[in-house]
Amino acid sequence: MHIHETIAGLRAALKSAGRVVLVPTMGNLHEGHIALMTQARDHGDSVVATIFVNRLQFRPGEDFEKYPRTFQADCEKLTAAGVDHLFAPDEREMYPRPQGYHVVPPAEQDNALEGEFRPGHFQGVATVVMKLFQIAQPDVALFGKKDYQQLMVIRNMVTDLNLPIEIIGGETVRAPDGLALSSRNGYLSAQERMEAPRLARTITKVVEAIRTGNPDFIGLERQAMAELAATGWVPDYVAIRKKLDLQLPSAHESGLVVLAAARLGSTRLIDNLEV
Ligand code: PAF
Repeated sequence: MHIHETIAGLRAALKSAGRVVLVPTMGNLHEGHIALMTQARDHGDSVVATIFVNRLQFRPGEDFEKYPRTFQADCEKLTAAGVDHLFAPDEREMYPRPQGYHVVPPAEQDNALEGEFRPGHFQGVATVVMKLFQIAQPDVALFGKKDYQQLMVIRNMVTDLNLPIEIIGGETVRAPDGLALSSRNGYLSAQERMEAPRLARTITKVVEAIRTGNPDFIGLERQAMAELAATGWVPDYVAIRKKLDLQLPSAHESGLVVLAAARLGSTRLIDNLEV
């Protein structure tokens, strides 16, 4: 695997790389990321992973400073997964001066769900992903469905700004007990780790209720939030939304996704399941 720390170095290497498939990450890689790398191989000639912890998408007081940086272990995993190029810039390379221009998602995407609890987050994500797209000029890019709203924001950005990039969503990878793999799972204490699969179980129950025809979406959301709260979680939301635009569905509508975010101790976990 070739490691590039500069934009110029990556661009030179990709001149003869054929069809480029990009998999952006913030590192601390787990099986979910590796599944994306493996899937990427089927979509082009050269798989390019990126590792960059993007300050712009963290709010003051969030975990930017403590976000795990595990570069050596990540490189070993990427090499074993057959990744061709890794772009791992430092902050000066990505932001040589304060970022003046930003990609601003429309309010209904930016302020809803995650955006309500992490204002500015998707602006930071969209801006860095746009920069990575400009730098690597990929034909295809993969993002995990675990960050469902992020995937939707990126898909819409690509459509609205006419970027010639195919966006592919990779399925969420779960631990045997159902917990969605996430770099932030490492923050959980042993006891919290045992409790954490409740989030997936809770949204699974909501999905099952919808599948059996329960049309009371607001009631189902409230009940799920109450169940989490009763077991020591601090839920931000459990929301039943339309898959395509995350807008509110009407009763009996199909093509839905159930999304949830909740705090367990000091760790904030998110998860979702398509109905
Ligand atoms: O999902 C992530 O790891 C990040 O949000 C991304 C897409 C790499 C942008 O920093």
